[in-house]
Amino acid sequence: MIIILLFCLCLAAKNYEVYGSMSNFSKIEDLELEEQLKAINKPPVKSIQTEFGRIVDCIDINKQLAFDHPLLKNHKIQLKFSFQDTQTNTKSHDRSGYSKIGLDDKDLCPKGTIPVQRTTKDDLIRAKRLSNNFGTLTKFDRGSHFAGIRIRGRIFFGVKGNLDVYNPPVDDHQMSSAYIYVSTGESSIPVPNHMFIHAGWQAYPGMSGDKLTHFFVEWVRNIIQHTGCTNMLCSGFVQTSQKIYVGAPVANVSSYGGPQFTMSLNLTQDPATKNWWLKAQDMDVGYFPASLFSNKLDFAMKAGWTGHTQFFLDGPSPPMGSGILPDGNPLHSCYISKMYFKDRFRNDRAPLKDQMLVYADNRRCYDAKYYGFVDNNLERVMMFGGPGGNCGL
Ligand SMILES: *[C@@H]1O[C@H](CO)[C@@H](O)[C@H](O)[C@H]1NC(C)=O
Ligand SMILES: *[C@@H]1O[C@H](CO)[C@@H](O)[C@H](O)[C@H]1NC(C)=O
Ligand SMILES: *[C@@H]1O[C@H](CO)[C@@H](O)[C@H](O)[C@H]1NC(C)=O
Repeated sequence: MIIILLFCLCLAAKNYEVYGSMSNFSKIEDLELEEQLKAINKPPVKSIQTEFGRIVDCIDINKQLAFDHPLLKNHKIQLKFSFQDTQTNTKSHDRSGYSKIGLDDKDLCPKGTIPVQRTTKDDLIRAKRLSNNFGTLTKFDRGSHFAGIRIRGRIFFGVKGNLDVYNPPVDDHQMSSAYIYVSTGESSIPVPNHMFIHAGWQAYPGMSGDKLTHFFVEWVRNIIQHTGCTNMLCSGFVQTSQKIYVGAPVANVSSYGGPQFTMSLNLTQDPATKNWWLKAQDMDVGYFPASLFSNKLDFAMKAGWTGHTQFFLDGPSPPMGSGILPDGNPLHSCYISKMYFKDRFRNDRAPLKDQMLVYADNRRCYDAKYYGFVDNNLERVMMFGGPGGNCGL
């Protein structure tokens, strides 16, 4: 028994390389980290060893980290979206399969608890290196590239799409991702009141400690003060799922010309509570409480779908998507299918070609294209990505 267990742990450890050595921390810093870990990791009701070599704890849904946030002191947890779906109540996967995210169906967290990946000291040290807060918040020694599409208009209540999931090769200092988003801002220049929510996948060793592709969420309420968070590294996102947890590695990824796997995402504002709910693979994952944004994200001024890379200023930018430019073939280029948004009347709308604003900051390295309605399987489709390299800033 023990030998089998050890063998399994070794196999798991092989998949999980740790980046950046956890070198000399003073005793005081070390104690601080221990204190933080104690605050972040809530007492588990049950613990699960994942196939990715990490421990996932099932913790009381009412004791989750989100509720440590000062803005959520008197927050009343919302367990379900306020209205039953009347409109598009069908499963939305296409011919490709959904990638597995989160716990095995036979190993869900018990009722009343949610899965949370246990934070380690290494996680904290990496997070500290990334910024003076946690997460992927923009720091000035890093460059970014984007290739994506947003919808023309000024008031949105939701965005949805099935993201083809790849595992782009990235090094320790690079990040490659794809996500859906809503935001308040009109400008891509950081301004204090620019708030946003992102949900999608990313490969980011500097964040996760491995080269796997992870399901991620992040939110920002003030980009200049670095108030915001990625996943569960700090409080904010309220998780309700017993299966899917933010930060989970994505088990199945697509390959060029091979089988394709997708992540279906739907970010919608609840009309009653104004909380922004997130569904993945047609299941509720949880929500971003309205109070995080001081009611300034009562509606979104921007909504869209994008690829995004980050890199250190002295290095190249990594591949985005499948690593090739959009070529119209969903087996080649990274795609987003079944694209919808919720308009100012909260109706689900399929985007029209002339409503779409395509952006790419260096078309030699990355591009995005909207193909409109392709077929009944994929419906409305965009493709994005490219090889990257030395693309300027
Ligand atoms: C860590 O400390 C040891 C001895 O105190 C020193 O030899 C070593 O160079 C240090 N390593 C780093 C990465 O600072
Ligand atoms: C996304 O989820 C919301 C909330 O459940 C639902 O009203 C909406 O119809 C969904 N969007 C699509 C396109 O299925
Ligand atoms: C997806 O990944 C899971 C976990 O690694 C594996 O059990 C499953 O067979 C994979 N699915 C497909 C279709 O490859």
